[in-house]
Amino acid sequence: MKKTLLFATIIFTLVIMAACGKSNNEGADKESGKANKVLTMATSADFAPFESRDTAGNPQGFDIDLANMIAKELGYKLEIKDMKFDGLIGALQANRADMVLAGMSATEKRKKNVDFSTEYNRSGEMFITLKGSNIKTVDDLKGNTVGVQLGTIQEEGAKALQKKVKFDVKPLDNATTLIQELLSKRIQVAYMDKSVATGYIKKQNLAGFDDPTSSSPGMAVAFPKGSKLVGDVNGVLKKLEDNGKLQELKDKWLKNQQ
Ligand code: ARG
Repeated sequence: MKKTLLFATIIFTLVIMAACGKSNNEGADKESGKANKVLTMATSADFAPFESRDTAGNPQGFDIDLANMIAKELGYKLEIKDMKFDGLIGALQANRADMVLAGMSATEKRKKNVDFSTEYNRSGEMFITLKGSNIKTVDDLKGNTVGVQLGTIQEEGAKALQKKVKFDVKPLDNATTLIQELLSKRIQVAYMDKSVATGYIKKQNLAGFDDPTSSSPGMAVAFPKGSKLVGDVNGVLKKLEDNGKLQELKDKWLKNQQ
């Protein structure tokens, strides 16, 4: 009799355990299923305060925070691929990334190859020089070497400007290298987005002047042509604008950059 009771208790316990186990697993599956939905963001982490790496080597910046917010709102896990700026559009075209956040200006030319979200930031452009340099206007560029990042609107802008003023253009892969080249006097001018240039000018004690000729479009998230994500991300951007979160991000990363 005692044995039967023990047996019954064991069976009962096992049934209960199995039932609990099952429901727990289902929950876990649902959870992990959601977390497994990966959103791949490609960027070029050489462009503080939009994207750079912290001392531990982790990506950080305005675009990284924004991409994380977008992923969270849409229920994805964010994965970041760091590459050369020049390769970003190609990565989207080859579907090697779902989106690009890289301080990328939404130009008409790029719109032929990729789709863009609504703009999330606007920045003019600047020419950076060493402090005390006598290059203070576009005309002063004459005879000097201007560094630009490969594949950027500045590369294109500098080449257009060369038709009016005679100077050399040095295109480089990496935006951070431009500043090193300037500091070591291998170039006399670095041409960049203003919100990035102002940071370098302060941190490295440099000088510079605004580009009077540019009317560059704002920065936006880029997607492969026809991506269904465009509408979703525009929805998130609108929400973040309405609830003040976008402004909070600007205050965090871009406050002293304008
Ligand atoms: N705004 C410029 C462009 O779209 C430069 C962007 C460079 N971004 C970067 N992550 N290095 O061409």
